[in-house]
Amino acid sequence: LKSRLLADIAAADTADSVETLRVGALGKNGVVTALLKTLGGMSPDERLEKGPAIQDLRESVAGAIAVRKAALEQAALDARLAAERIDMSLPADLGPVGSVHPVSQVMDELAEIFADLGFSVATGPEIEDDWHNFTALNIPETHPARAMHDTFYFPDGEADGQKRMLLRTHTSPVQIRTMMTQAPPIRIIAPGRVYRSDSDATHTPMFHQIEGLVIDRGITLGHLKWTLETFLKAFFERDDIILRLRPSYFPFTEPSVEVDVGYTLVNGQRVIGGSGNDKDGGWLEVLGSGMVHRKVIENCGLDPDEWQGFAFGTGVDRLAMLKYGMTDLRAFFDGDLRWLRHYGFSA
Ligand code: PHE
Repeated sequence: LKSRLLADIAAADTADSVETLRVGALGKNGVVTALLKTLGGMSPDERLEKGPAIQDLRESVAGAIAVRKAALEQAALDARLAAERIDMSLPADLGPVGSVHPVSQVMDELAEIFADLGFSVATGPEIEDDWHNFTALNIPETHPARAMHDTFYFPDGEADGQKRMLLRTHTSPVQIRTMMTQAPPIRIIAPGRVYRSDSDATHTPMFHQIEGLVIDRGITLGHLKWTLETFLKAFFERDDIILRLRPSYFPFTEPSVEVDVGYTLVNGQRVIGGSGNDKDGGWLEVLGSGMVHRKVIENCGLDPDEWQGFAFGTGVDRLAMLKYGMTDLRAFFDGDLRWLRHYGFSA
């Protein structure tokens, strides 16, 4: 019996067949177990005579099973190690790689251009109060300009109108926050998200603006024009940028100037630069600007007879569209990789 069991165990070639043999020999109804049970019914002499052989059988079988099991486990491990070997010298597959979103990219470009002109970056909260977003900017409670802003107000706001919270409708409140915390001279840009209740191909309820503010002594409209021209030339990477300054109105600037930039038609496409006349191109409005209103300077605790300045504000998404020839503003915020790839923004 012993040699047969040991031979079977040695020949078993899977963990399952070893287990079947173990149950057959040492399990509750196994042959070796049955022999061990006979010991109980033996006389002491008989037990002394046959006991050692039965015990030896049990130990030999249990030992052989353990050895065989270990050998099979080792073999399985060796096979796995061989099959799953990784060649560490192969180049890795990095998977899809993302890229900086066009809007973020344009904001970075703008920050860089203005850094070269000595402007630093200022920020303000997107959840703003009525005073910073409107009143301090010379847009009092009853001013019609408020109607044009399609403001998102927070519902259970303060009874005091000045503290009423809203989503900022433009980056201009950062002008106020900067003038109230920084001593002039001031040269800042403020890029960020703004919100208006408006949605179509050229409007999204959230969009991006960049504000510019300069406060110093003796600042004139000439400084504004030079700054905008320099910035637009750098941004569109062309020397033939032609500006058209149109008189306009913003409550917080006086005088106010709307700025158009000339485009040329190339194969029916509007390309920024050159022309500006109706024959082979035209004008695109790119930003609002003006000399900071003396009342705004006063509202921030500065003396308007000593300090003057200019401010401008423009849509970052719009600048991105013009630079990269994109047509639908909403696509900026859809997260559609095909769109990003089409414009060369994603792997
Ligand atoms: N805040 C204005 C807007 O959102 C733009 C602007 C900024 C105009 C600064 C003048 C000066 O339309």
